[in-house]
Amino acid sequence: MNSDTGSTPATPPTPATLSKPVRISDLLSWKAEGTKWAMLTAYDYSTAQAMSQADIPVLLVGDSAANVIYGYKTTTEVSLDEMIPLARGVVRGAGKALVVADLPFGTYEASDEQAVLSAARMMRESGAHAVKIEGGVRIAPRIRALVDAGIPVMAHIGFTPQSVHSLSGFKVQGRAGGADALRADARAVAEAGAFAVVLEMVPADLAAEVTRDLPIPTIGIGAGRETDAQVLVWQDMVELPAGGFAPKFVRRFGAIGAALTDAARDYRDAVASGDFPGEEHAY
Ligand code: KIV
Repeated sequence: MNSDTGSTPATPPTPATLSKPVRISDLLSWKAEGTKWAMLTAYDYSTAQAMSQADIPVLLVGDSAANVIYGYKTTTEVSLDEMIPLARGVVRGAGKALVVADLPFGTYEASDEQAVLSAARMMRESGAHAVKIEGGVRIAPRIRALVDAGIPVMAHIGFTPQSVHSLSGFKVQGRAGGADALRADARAVAEAGAFAVVLEMVPADLAAEVTRDLPIPTIGIGAGRETDAQVLVWQDMVELPAGGFAPKFVRRFGAIGAALTDAARDYRDAVASGDFPGEEHAY
């Protein structure tokens, strides 16, 4: 029930919603209506097509590509040169979805000018519709500079993987004494002009409070049930690879890793036995 209007919330984004391109204004309307929505990561044309066919309204070309595409240990190792071709593929496969691309570590922190040049390059060379950068109060001036340059910005606070070393590892943020800092980060990014904010690994009650207080949509990952939207890394959601580690906040919605390994094994055996290719595959 929508507490403001007393009405049942609008149905979640449906194929009808995605019959037109998803705009930032839609995300703001969904917040006002209490319509929850799902964001997924995507890193290539084919998976972007699959996500778009599932009416996922926002696709994130996350710098988690560092881990799941390039096999690096942390997201600090991926470059803009590596991210742009991924985003270009996603934009081509995204259909009506809004595509947000991460600016990687080291491409926006030094100055407003560096941030604007990196974001403009990402958008110009990939066609992405918006960028995401990590950080709260400390990065708010960069958000303002990007917005002033006409670049839509999604913010990312709480646990920020690009700061994994300075945060001393993967830890829930905003507990106890950290709660006020998280509230300040949330206010700062909204006031700087971000159109949405990712809350990563934040206690559920704090994420709910921030969601109520902010005028912009919150997108949770390990931030409980009350955020306006949720995001997952798609490989985590479908257990690729089979047996791969998943944080506590992930639910498995499929088992693509096992299915892919089984298919690859069947193919290997069919080739070895001479069963594939068959007569029907010959020209
Ligand atoms: O890079 C990424 O995939 C992200 C999401 C987990 C929010 O930033």
